[in-house]
Amino acid sequence: MTALSGKRILLVIGGGIAAYKSLDLIRRLRERGASVRCILTQGAQHFITPMAASALSGQRTHTDLFDREDEADIGHIKLARDADLVVVAPATANLMAKMAGGHADELASTVLLATTLPILIAPAMNVRMWLHPATRRNLTTLQEDGVHVVGPNEGAMAEAEVGPGRMAEPLEIAAAVERLLAPSGPLAGKHVIVTSGPTHEPIDPVRYIANRSSGRQGHAIAKAASEAGARVTLISGPVDLPDPRGVTTVHVESAREMLEAVERALPADIGIFAAAVADWRVADAGGQKIKKKEGTLPNLSLAENPDILATVSHLPQNRPALMVGFAAETENVIEHARQKLAKKGCDLIVANDVSPATGVMGGESNTVHLVTRSGIETWPTLSKTEVAERLVAHVGALIGGTEP
Ligand code: CTP
Repeated sequence: MTALSGKRILLVIGGGIAAYKSLDLIRRLRERGASVRCILTQGAQHFITPMAASALSGQRTHTDLFDREDEADIGHIKLARDADLVVVAPATANLMAKMAGGHADELASTVLLATTLPILIAPAMNVRMWLHPATRRNLTTLQEDGVHVVGPNEGAMAEAEVGPGRMAEPLEIAAAVERLLAPSGPLAGKHVIVTSGPTHEPIDPVRYIANRSSGRQGHAIAKAASEAGARVTLISGPVDLPDPRGVTTVHVESAREMLEAVERALPADIGIFAAAVADWRVADAGGQKIKKKEGTLPNLSLAENPDILATVSHLPQNRPALMVGFAAETENVIEHARQKLAKKGCDLIVANDVSPATGVMGGESNTVHLVTRSGIETWPTLSKTEVAERLVAHVGALIGGTEP
């Protein structure tokens, strides 16, 4: 038995120089026991031939939407259904745009629109195309639609430029396929929602209220949960960190957007809410920049933001089985954490002292106390990565029913 025994993969190969690596990907997936059927776009056929894909996959390769033989034989709707996973590699800027826009003007995009299977894309394009706002928007749309993403990597590109845009290596893509189809680890088969980072609350179109959270702790938790086999949705406020690999990351700005994104991501087995959500927003954030007026100061009236942790913890339906909150305190850490545990209705509070002297906010390490209804456990000062790994192991033990 290999990791992907009996799994069927539909591999859509887009038109980019990275298409040649997809031939190796076919081999890697088959080595792991999967069967692979390929679709080549017109563009892909400039780089590799259907014959090469068929020879390596051992199956007929599909290229045309209106192929008489194909339609009689399998048909695009059946192609879109007869697999366990669709992998798009390379996912070019054009294919991503078509997927985000719901186009169906040739076989690949039609199958991608018609399928209800999970989809994994491995983007590959020139660095400027990858960083273009249109591609950023399309990526966000696809992630919100639940599309999984692997890569791209940074490095030298075919056009002698350097930056993000190189397709992930075949072995990395095969590993991402395994994570999706044959997850292993203490959180295998679990869906974990993590919130991370600060929120930005607009004052006007150019100013906002924010806090010093860097998102490091939340992002480290998302990564650790993914490495423990979970399917992870990370809802992140504005941070200066890369999206963790293998994690579906949804980017938001304000607390209200964060709550909406969390609600869209439900149901989940575990919620770990590490974001430093702003408690207030400006009640009447206007559409125009507030102008400076001699002798008068603007009067900002504040409104209360929804409490995301409390809202989700008190859901009558769809409440994750285990809800974990954080308590960022500058005094009476344990007492305040106990109060939050009760008030917010979660199962565990990870309390930490965020006084400036501790350097926790924006720093690399953290000293935390785990507060539950049955007691307190204090961990030594650890790096945020270690806190994340230990917390994930702890949560895995709790959800698995064994004592950590
Ligand atoms: N939290 C949340 N939504 C909010 C405020 C907080 O989901 N609007 C969550 C945080 O992600 C964290 C926990 O609640 O898991 C506690 O956050 P913290 O900032 O420590 O507490 P507050 O509720 O904001 O209380 P206070 O500012 O009075 O300490």
